[in-house]
Amino acid sequence: METRVLPFSEASIAEAARLILAGEPVAVPTETVYGLAADATNPAAVARIYEAKGRPSFNPLIVHVTDFAAAERIGQFSEDAREFAKRHWPGPLTLVVPLRPEARIASIVTAGLPTVGLRVPAHPAMQALLRASGRPLAAPSANTSGSISPTRAEHVLKSLGGRIPLIIDGGATQRGLESTIVAVTGGARRLLRPGPIEVDAEPGSGGKIESPGQLASHYAPSKPLRLGATYAEADEYLIGFGAIPGDSNLSESGDLVEAAARLFDLLHAADESPKPRIAIAPVPDEGLGAAINDRLRRAAA
Ligand code: TXA
Ligand code: MG
Repeated sequence: METRVLPFSEASIAEAARLILAGEPVAVPTETVYGLAADATNPAAVARIYEAKGRPSFNPLIVHVTDFAAAERIGQFSEDAREFAKRHWPGPLTLVVPLRPEARIASIVTAGLPTVGLRVPAHPAMQALLRASGRPLAAPSANTSGSISPTRAEHVLKSLGGRIPLIIDGGATQRGLESTIVAVTGGARRLLRPGPIEVDAEPGSGGKIESPGQLASHYAPSKPLRLGATYAEADEYLIGFGAIPGDSNLSESGDLVEAAARLFDLLHAADESPKPRIAIAPVPDEGLGAAINDRLRRAAA
């Protein structure tokens, strides 16, 4: 794939919005780092973010929106969360709040969690893309797994060149550090990731930093899960893949983008079925399959 680098302009944003609506990920600057953005309501588009990054595991992604009103249509804000958001948005702050069940955010975005990370970015390029596409945009940092945070279009090109269709070049980012992440899902605010905005530790929270990737930030089904299954036992709900049929199928054609896009929906469906156990067909451990298998191994452990 050829990766085009276009300077930020009305024309390049129109092209980026066209790609977003066609389900492609596009790199775009925010005031913190460059993000790799995709339509948060399109699960296959979000799966392509993971495919491009070669990320070996699924983490919940931050959903970017134009303003507080748009954020409130996706997440539920307590009085405290609302006040906090209004003080810092637009800006380098991400708030993790309960997800509205009726919001059309793909389950791969939240990695199956009932919460969502929301941010109103200040950068004019990301704001313009949000407005031109009319979609909430899921965007992790625009780098391959393990490489440094991209603060220039050249950094993005170096790590994702050939893997994505377009990079919007808006010059060097202002902050150069990923957003501060604060969870406001229960009582006290909890700092999940320190960043450009300093947050007062609320009494009771002790200012403890929970590193991303820890238990509260990962969904797992409540039932026992058997991996590598080629058939279902009588008490199992089987999630099939490719030629192995099941009660549902990740992808009948064996397409890993489709499988990643459906993974969390099918795990939830299996969890809600009357069967007390879940079995899942083998998924090849290549490309996106590695991220799928990482998630399944953790869920089965
Ligand atoms: O500055 C930034 O935040 C950049 C720009 C592009 O906006 N984005 C970014 O995304 O750093 P990413 O994917 O590298 O980091 C997102 C972090 C993850 O580590 C994840 O743990 C946390 O946000 N997160 C997102 N949603 C969450 C949720 N529902 N619960 C807990 N943690 C969440
Ligand atoms: Mg990152």
